[in-house]
Amino acid sequence: MPIPTGLEAPGSVAAPFVRIAALSDAPAGTMMRVTRGDLDLLIVHGPSGLCVIDDRCPHMSAPLSLGTLTECVVACPLHRGAFDVCSGDVVQFPTTGGLDADGDYHAPWAPAEGATKPEPTDLKARARAATRVRRLRYYPLRVTGDWIEVRLPDETAAPAR
Ligand code: FES
Repeated sequence: MPIPTGLEAPGSVAAPFVRIAALSDAPAGTMMRVTRGDLDLLIVHGPSGLCVIDDRCPHMSAPLSLGTLTECVVACPLHRGAFDVCSGDVVQFPTTGGLDADGDYHAPWAPAEGATKPEPTDLKARARAATRVRRLRYYPLRVTGDWIEVRLPDETAAPAR
C-alpha cells in the first residue's frame, strides 16, 4: 500500500529497514501490534495491502490494536474515532470533540435528535477541547521473503523486547 503523501513517520525516510514480523503473522483483514524499543507499531493488512503506523490513536494515544479493522478503516476502542489507513483521513471524529490536525475545532458528539446541550466548561472538558487529533504516521515498508521490514528511525531500532 503506498504511503499517503507527506505522512511518512519523521526520521524514517532514510533509515535502514528492520525486520518486525513474519509475513504469515499478518494475514489479510488483521491488525497486529509489534513493539521495538519504546515504539509500538501497528501492522495493518487491509484490502490495499500492508501498512505500518504507530499503535497509538492520533487522538489520545489509545492502542488502535485493541480496536477494529473494517476494510481500510481502523476504529479506536476509546472514543469512537475512526481512521482510514488507505488515505490517512479521519473517517469519524472522536466523540469528545477537539481540534483536528489543521487546528479546526469539532464540537463533542451529540445525538441527532433531542435538545442540544451547552458544552461543559470544566477543566476536563477544556482539556478535551484543546486535544488535537493528529495525522497518522506511516513507516516505509517492504516484504523480503517471508518478512515484513520497516524503516524505523535510528533511535528506535533497538532489539525487540
Ligand atoms: S483515543 Fe482514540 S478516539 Fe480518543
